[in-house]
Amino acid sequence: MKQYIDLEDINNVDQLIQQAIQLKSDPFAHKQLGKNKSIGMLFFNSSLRTRLSTQKAAQNLGMNIMVMNLNSEGWGLEFEDGSVMNAGTAEHIKEAAAVISQYVDVIALRAFPSLTDKVKDEEEQIIRSFQKYASVPVVNMESATAHPLQALTDAITIQEFKQKERPKVVLTWAPHPRALPHAVPNSFAKMMQMIDVDFCITHPEGYELNPKITGNTPIVYNQNEALKDADFVYAKNWSSYQDYGQIKSTDESWMLTLDKIKAAKFMHCLPVRRNMIVADEILDSDQSLVIQQANNRTYAAQAVLKEILED
Ligand code: CP
Repeated sequence: MKQYIDLEDINNVDQLIQQAIQLKSDPFAHKQLGKNKSIGMLFFNSSLRTRLSTQKAAQNLGMNIMVMNLNSEGWGLEFEDGSVMNAGTAEHIKEAAAVISQYVDVIALRAFPSLTDKVKDEEEQIIRSFQKYASVPVVNMESATAHPLQALTDAITIQEFKQKERPKVVLTWAPHPRALPHAVPNSFAKMMQMIDVDFCITHPEGYELNPKITGNTPIVYNQNEALKDADFVYAKNWSSYQDYGQIKSTDESWMLTLDKIKAAKFMHCLPVRRNMIVADEILDSDQSLVIQQANNRTYAAQAVLKEILED
């Protein structure tokens, strides 16, 4: 693997899932692979799981780790080509990415969208600029439109817990007080089209995701109908894609309860707002996989870093 910017960078998804499951059973089997190699983990936004699990994954492979919160600790970065830098930004991405590439062997990056400028967000300016000007592989730790490490984690978790060959998986929108990005539902929807599951998406009208990403996935506007006979229910809030970044509904009736999901397993990327997205009764039950899911973040990251180091 040359980089992990998005799910298209995966050569064989089934093999990568199996690799992650193998690493989970023997995390230190490749401790020599990362010897004398470094990863630079650069954050423009907050993180708990991505930061700690990717760090743990790199440690399991014997890598050295440097972490930097670029917004608060670095110089203000300029991304526009040819700009006259007479305002707030102090360092151009051309120098920054080239310099960082001399210190580390892999750059991992988190940079959320503005949710105000759809065109710019879809250009993925920050991660694509690093990709362009860095001379080492770039790993996406959640960008404006994609969270491929999370999606790989989700596929691993479904593989581990599925009780039938082709389980029914439902991605459901759920209410949230703030406008949230599309990265997680985008990548989850993409991933579900890459593995063998019966997949549908449910959300209130007006919350359609980018149709280029959802493709032929059935969209069901009636949540109860969509949830019928589900094996896995993945809840996530996202803001409107059409009316970009807007909150169109906070309809509390879309919150997940045990009565709605019946015997299905519950999934969420975390962090999750209790009794807003999902009721306590689910999160505190054996049907919730959120903790196991978060554990798999380590092995998803480790499988990706292993492939990059081997290439
Ligand atoms: N799911 C996830 O990416 O969690 P963090 O934002 O805490 O990293």
